[in-house]
Amino acid sequence: MLLEAKNVSKVFRARRGGGETVAVKDATLRVEPGRFIAIVGESGSGKSTLGRLLLNLLAPTSGTVELDGAPVAGMDRREAFAYRRQVQAVLQDPAGSLNPRKRVDETVGEVIRLHGMARGRTAVRDRVAEVLEQVGMTPPGRFLDRYPHELSGGQRQRVLIARAIALNPRIIVADEAVSALDASVKAGVLKVMRDLQDRLGVGYIFITHDLPVVRKVADEVYVMKAGEIVEHNTKAAIFAAPQHPYTRELLAAAPVLT
Ligand SMILES: Nc1ncnc2c1ncn2[C@@H]1O[C@H](COP(=O)(O)OP(=O)(O)OP(=O)(O)O)[C@@H](O)[C@H]1O
Ligand SMILES: [Mg+2]
Repeated sequence: MLLEAKNVSKVFRARRGGGETVAVKDATLRVEPGRFIAIVGESGSGKSTLGRLLLNLLAPTSGTVELDGAPVAGMDRREAFAYRRQVQAVLQDPAGSLNPRKRVDETVGEVIRLHGMARGRTAVRDRVAEVLEQVGMTPPGRFLDRYPHELSGGQRQRVLIARAIALNPRIIVADEAVSALDASVKAGVLKVMRDLQDRLGVGYIFITHDLPVVRKVADEVYVMKAGEIVEHNTKAAIFAAPQHPYTRELLAAAPVLT
């Protein structure tokens, strides 16, 4: 399986006044299951927009997003539904992504039911418990009946990851998925993500400001500036020999790496 953005652009037009923002410009990117792809770049450089284009949450102004050569924009409802299962999102803003009125078992259970990953109360509950264990929320029984406000930020983030992996996705687009977490929780969540990469072959599009994290987890790095991908290479090459002046600037501004 191969997910590609081919020369995608996204222009946002202002409702009034005719101004426009070229949020993403002619971006080309590839990800496969089992690969950890990082997208880095300053605030407003188009990272989240590119992520939303890959998730088929936004339609490109030009260019295509393709799964195994088939444009996602041309998918019928059934295909788009299947696509949503295979390419899952863990989006920026964990507080806003969870329904405050739903318990953890409901939040995770409803997507399992919707996508037919398990049927019947017991089977759904077992699957919820299983994915909570996979993200390190153990014993799951302690968390099933809790509402989001009864969880820590790190635990909420893990619930979002659990909900994503419950569908056995091949690729997860994670937008600042660990950025708000403190160091120890962040390390725990990253370990979970890497375990899933190793054990289940999940691939990641990992959008972040956090270069030390990129250095730890990424296989490849795309650098964005003002909507454009200005550099793409293996992590080793990016850190050892950045080619673009902007990449050098980013690396120079990053905290000392250990
Ligand atoms: N729905 C929208 N309507 C209009 N403009 C938008 C919309 N979404 C994003 N933009 C603009 O597109 C540009 C890219 O935004 P985007 O959210 O992709 O940046 P980002 O790299 O994710 O930034 P950050 O690191 O702050 O999350 C910005 O100038 C933003 O204001
Ligand atoms: Mg963003």
